[in-house]
Amino acid sequence: MSNLDFRRLRRLRYNPIVRDMVRETHLNKSDFIYPLFSAHGENIKKPVSSMPGVYQMSIENIVEECKEVRDLGIPGVILFGIPEAKDEVGSDAYAEEGIIQRTIRAIKKEVSDLLVIGDVCMCEYTSHGHCGVVHGDDIVNDETLVLLSKIALTQAEAGADIIAPSDMMDGRIAAIRQTLDNHKYKNLPIMSYSAKYASAYYGPFRDAAEGAPKFGDRKSHQMDIANVNEAIREVEEDIAEGADIVMVKPAGAYLDVIRRVKDEFAMPTAAYQVSGEYSMIKAGAQLGWIDEEKIMVESLTAIKRAGADMILTYFAKDIARYLDKQ
Ligand code: PBG
Ligand code: ZN
Repeated sequence: MSNLDFRRLRRLRYNPIVRDMVRETHLNKSDFIYPLFSAHGENIKKPVSSMPGVYQMSIENIVEECKEVRDLGIPGVILFGIPEAKDEVGSDAYAEEGIIQRTIRAIKKEVSDLLVIGDVCMCEYTSHGHCGVVHGDDIVNDETLVLLSKIALTQAEAGADIIAPSDMMDGRIAAIRQTLDNHKYKNLPIMSYSAKYASAYYGPFRDAAEGAPKFGDRKSHQMDIANVNEAIREVEEDIAEGADIVMVKPAGAYLDVIRRVKDEFAMPTAAYQVSGEYSMIKAGAQLGWIDEEKIMVESLTAIKRAGADMILTYFAKDIARYLDKQ
């Protein structure tokens, strides 16, 4: 065989300018959404030990953080609340003066051009740490829908730009959509955590949001980690019920799910690079075993290459700074 008998794929890899020209996946600052943890109190900026660089912050610090996020060119934030007090039904989650409702109002007042996404679930607000109303050891689906709808409505009234239910109850998108529509929020989009797995990668988040279940687990509502056809059924259901954006969560270990969902439905598709994904990269870097910046870029590129249109990530500020210097 002569040298001319085969193609040389390496030709396009020698010159960095050529490499740039043929690159198939590009990260943009507009791809990213930054999660924030809003805590009750004043003057609070409490580090989350398992998530270096992530803090629980009181409202005035959240607002300052939002200005920085906006100035970096990141389009939006997603908010989680840590209330002063928790109870059986998570009533702070749907209180007009709840931690999230106050946080949304403060951000929309001072950083009105930043997209504010409200995470809708009960586990940060309930004394038992579960995502819904608990009777015995069951998380009761249909009673929970009533409360989820109230959470969504009060967030909408506070000024949220997008509602993001993360609870995984059946029928929540229909219930929330109907409530929003009945209260003049017909045009408020829903980003559904559609294919959310019962994942161990949420461990550090449960420190950050203080929402670990006090007994049992989330396997009766979150998906089995082994399933992908079921993810298709979840997404299909959420779209039928009115979801505008669908999400796969976690991201890095579920790239096949992102790809299937994107190909099957051609919907705006979000992926959540969750706390455990972030913490593992941070820990590996702190030990000097991996290059944090390169792994950050590689992990986010993989998620986008798999089909995600938007990525929720604790690296949002870091990747924005990285993209600025390219
Ligand atoms: C609440 C919620 C969780 C996450 C987002 N919303 C935790 C859970 O379901 O246990 C996880 C986010 C992360 O790990 O970064 N339902
Ligand atoms: Zn929950």
